[in-house]
Amino acid sequence: MCGIIGIVGTTPVQSRLIDSLKRLEYRGYDSAGIAGVVDGHVERRRAKGKIRALEEVLAADPLNATVGIGHTRWATHGGPSTRNAHPQTAGRVTLVHNGIIENYAELREALKKQGRTFESETDTEVIAQLLDAELKTRPPLDALKATLDQLTGAYALAVLIDGEDELIMGARRGSPLVVGYGEGEMFLGSDALAVGPFTNRIAYLDEGDYVAIDHHTARIFDETGQPVERPVTTVPASAALVEKGNYRHFMEKEIHDQPEGCQHTIAAYVDPLTDHTSVAGDIDWAKLERVQIVACGTSYIAGLMGKYLIERLADLPVDVEIASEFRYRQPALRPGSLAVAMSQSGETADTLAALRYCQAKGMLTAAVVNAQESTMAREVDVVWPIHCGPEIGVASTKAFTAQVCVLTAVAIAAARARGRIDEAEEQRLVKVLLEAPRLVAESIKLEDAVKGIAQEVSKARDVLFLGRGPMYPLALEGALKLKEISYIHAEGYAAGELKHGPIALVDEDTPIVILAPFDSYFEKSASNMQEVMARGGQVIFITDPEGEKHAPAGARVVVTAPKSDPLISPLVLAAPVQLLAYYVAVQKGADVDQPRNLAKSVTVE
Ligand code: G6P
Repeated sequence: MCGIIGIVGTTPVQSRLIDSLKRLEYRGYDSAGIAGVVDGHVERRRAKGKIRALEEVLAADPLNATVGIGHTRWATHGGPSTRNAHPQTAGRVTLVHNGIIENYAELREALKKQGRTFESETDTEVIAQLLDAELKTRPPLDALKATLDQLTGAYALAVLIDGEDELIMGARRGSPLVVGYGEGEMFLGSDALAVGPFTNRIAYLDEGDYVAIDHHTARIFDETGQPVERPVTTVPASAALVEKGNYRHFMEKEIHDQPEGCQHTIAAYVDPLTDHTSVAGDIDWAKLERVQIVACGTSYIAGLMGKYLIERLADLPVDVEIASEFRYRQPALRPGSLAVAMSQSGETADTLAALRYCQAKGMLTAAVVNAQESTMAREVDVVWPIHCGPEIGVASTKAFTAQVCVLTAVAIAAARARGRIDEAEEQRLVKVLLEAPRLVAESIKLEDAVKGIAQEVSKARDVLFLGRGPMYPLALEGALKLKEISYIHAEGYAAGELKHGPIALVDEDTPIVILAPFDSYFEKSASNMQEVMARGGQVIFITDPEGEKHAPAGARVVVTAPKSDPLISPLVLAAPVQLLAYYVAVQKGADVDQPRNLAKSVTVE
C-alpha cells in the first residue's frame, strides 16, 4: 500500500517524482523519499512524514537527476522514521518496495552471518542487500531474478543500480506495478495514477513478472525468466488525472461526485429505454444456491447492504464476511454458489486471498471493483465495475454508494430471474433505482444543516449510530466514517440491540444518530428513539418528510432527507451520514483525506 514511481527521463525528474508521489500519498504517508543518478552515482533524499517534509529537504538539497525513483510509505516493518524510509540502499543497490517480505527475518540472519550490516528495521533493506550480493557475480537482470527467487511474500519494486545510469528495474508479486510508455521516456508506477501525468499508455505487469526499462524500451520477463510481452493499453484521462477542483478535500469532492457516480454506475446495469436490468455474467440465478460476499472496511458494509437487498428481493441466501476472517477459518463452501468480492481498489490483500479460496473451492466468482485493471478484476469470472471515477480520499464515500447501486441492480436482476418478481415489478424497481442520482443530489443539499450539527458532535467522546433493516449497515458505515476521520469513538448498532448493551452508554453527552426513513421499520425505530430520550440521550434523527411528521417530539435535531422508495433510501441517507463525519473532522482540524495510521489501498495482510 505504499506508492511507487520510477522515471527514466530526458529532463530533470525531481519535480515529476514529487508530483507523482503527491498523487500516491493516499496509499500511505509515514515517510517519503526519492533517489536518482547524479554524475554516475545514485543519491537519495528522504524524510519522515508527508511529501511536504521531503520537499523541504529537497529545497535545501536538490536532486539533479534525469533518472530516478520515488516512494511514499505506509509503515509495516519498522516504525515511521527517516532511517526506515525508502529508498533503501545496500552497496550498489537503491530500491523502493511496496508489500511485505515474509521470510525477511531468516534472510536477514543469513546476510548478517555473511558480514552484512543493516541500517534500518525494514524488510525492504533485506532485498537491497540480497541484490547487492547477487550483483557481485551476475549482471543486473540475472541478479534481480536470483534475488526474487529467494523472496517469500508480496512486493512491487523499483530499483536503481550504481553504475547503470539509464536503467530502472522493477518486479511484482502480490502488489501491482505498471509500466508507462512515453516519448523517449519510460515509467514505472504502483498504479495508473502514478504515471498519469506523464503518459496514458500503460502495461500492467502480471504476477511474478520483472522488468528493465530504459529511455525507449521495457524488457519484461515472466517468473521463469522467459521474455514476455504484456499488452499496452490506453487508460482514460479521467483515471490518470484527478484533481480536487474547488473543494477543500477529496472527501468533500467525492461526496459531491456521488450523483454522477451513481448515475454512471446504474447506467451500466439497467436499460433506461425498457426499464430492464442488464447484469453481465453467465450466472444461472434460478439454480444458484447461495451468494458469499467477502470484503473489508466500507466495502464489507456495502456487501451487508447487498445481503438485505438480495435476500429480500430475490429470496436467495447471502452470507457476508470480513475477508480477513473468512480466509483463515476454512469456511464450508460448495460449488453451485457465487462468490462476490467487493473492493474499491481490487487489490486488498485479504479480499483477494478470500476470493482465491473461493475459486479453489470451485465457486463461480464475481468482483465489484472500481479499478477495472486491478488484480481482482483480472482474476474473476465476472467483473461488475462501479463507475464513480478514481476515489482518492482514504475514507470511502462515492465507491460505497456506487457499490450499493450495483448490488441493488443485481438484486433486481436475480429476483426477476428467480421468478420472485414479474416484469412490471422489475420495471418499477428499475425506475426507482434510476431516481437515485437525483435524490442523492437533493440529499447532499443537507450540507449546511449537517454542518450546523458538527460543532456539537465534535465535542463528543462517543457517538452511537442506530438503524434497522438496511439502515443498520448504514449505521455501521456512519460510525466507521466518524472513527476514521475525526478519531471520535463511534459504534453502529442494530437499533433492536440497543437494550442488550449500548443503552448503558446513553447519557446527556453522547449524541445518538438514529437513521429512520418512514418505512416498515419506522415505528420500531421511533420506539428506540423514545427509549434513548427517556435516558437523557441527545438524538440526531435522520429521516424523510413522512418520518419527520411522525417522529416523537424531543429530538435534539431532525435532518430531513428527500422522500424515497425503501429500495434506494440507503443511498439517499448515505450523504448526510458522510457529511456529518466530514464536517466533524473539519471542525476538529483533522487531516480528512489522510487520516492517521490508515491507507487507501491495503495490499498487506
Ligand atoms: C482501507 C480503506 C477503506 C476501504 C478498505 C477496503 O481500509 O481505508 O476505505 O473500505 O480499505 O478497501 P477496498 O479497496 O478493498 O474496497
